Amino acid sequence: MKLPNQFYRPLAIGAPAPLREPPVKVERMIHFVPPHLEKFRAKVPELVKQVDVVLGNLEDAIPADAKEAARAGFIEMAKATDFGSTGLWTRMNALNSPWALEDMIEIVGAVGSKLDVVMLPKVEGPWDIAYLDQLLAQLEARHRVTKPILIHAILETAEGVKNVDAIASASPRMHGISLGPADLAASRAMKTTRVGGGHPDYKVIADAEPGQDLRASFQQDLWHYTIAKMVDACASAGIKAFYGPFGDFSDAPACEAQFRNAFLLGCAGAWSLHPSQIAIAKKVFSPDPQEVAFARRVLDAMPDGTGAVMIDGRMQDDATWKQCKVVVDLAKQVAAKDADLATLYGF
Ligand code: GLV
Ligand code: MG
Repeated sequence: MKLPNQFYRPLAIGAPAPLREPPVKVERMIHFVPPHLEKFRAKVPELVKQVDVVLGNLEDAIPADAKEAARAGFIEMAKATDFGSTGLWTRMNALNSPWALEDMIEIVGAVGSKLDVVMLPKVEGPWDIAYLDQLLAQLEARHRVTKPILIHAILETAEGVKNVDAIASASPRMHGISLGPADLAASRAMKTTRVGGGHPDYKVIADAEPGQDLRASFQQDLWHYTIAKMVDACASAGIKAFYGPFGDFSDAPACEAQFRNAFLLGCAGAWSLHPSQIAIAKKVFSPDPQEVAFARRVLDAMPDGTGAVMIDGRMQDDATWKQCKVVVDLAKQVAAKDADLATLYGF
């Protein structure tokens, strides 16, 4: 274990000093682009105006024989586009794959100064973060990158879930963690064939009543435990938690429900894999204007955040004041980015 005074030292001579605080950014949706396909690259300049983060995907869903083309396509798209305040991320290949090392060497070498975050898949423990942390420092130093590139881990193995606390606090480079429900389901031997979301057979059933055939049943959330565990690990390390992919593009209500559960439990955003999911993520991860209005009333009624007041018959005290501050702070960040929502929030 590193001593605290070593934790914030650059890991290579000439690498930028690690950030003390992660940047405050609205990241409601991380939009996935397959960069080996020209058709999708051509849409990036328009996409930049609609999403909070553009991510060039190099890992799963990119065929093995297109890995080099995806890497080259990402570099081309990063060079050609002005991302403004929109984040530029890449999802590199897993550390045990034949492509991971060249992904970092080529991308940091070519566009390291434009890259905000590297998403690292299949993270099993803090040792994976330590490896990438060191490699990024060496490459930043070699290519004179002055802003540290951050790391975002995907939580998608049973071992990773077991070690999530240590992963979240492994390095000052940690940006956040996303749940990867598809790989995680396989790693745990869950008997599902879906990318996230619920399952009709994972349910509770009401007790049998004499003479009644029909018994009520309620589908349960397969991901509750993992999301809650991930959120606690991230919040205690001062980084952000995200829900990952929702694979059934035809089921917008189910996607919205999954995103909303994650939002309510503490997540900051989710992945959008299809253009239709951008609006869903924007709606869910921007606080509801009525909630914001109520939260502002609480903050106004308790200017120093102490004591107790009644508002609409509901007790408010220091703890509800803090919840309201979370909602209002997020609304202010969203409003700074989105003029329509700023009007709805009354800022
Ligand atoms: C994402 O990568 C997942 O496996 O769900
Ligand atoms: Mg995965």
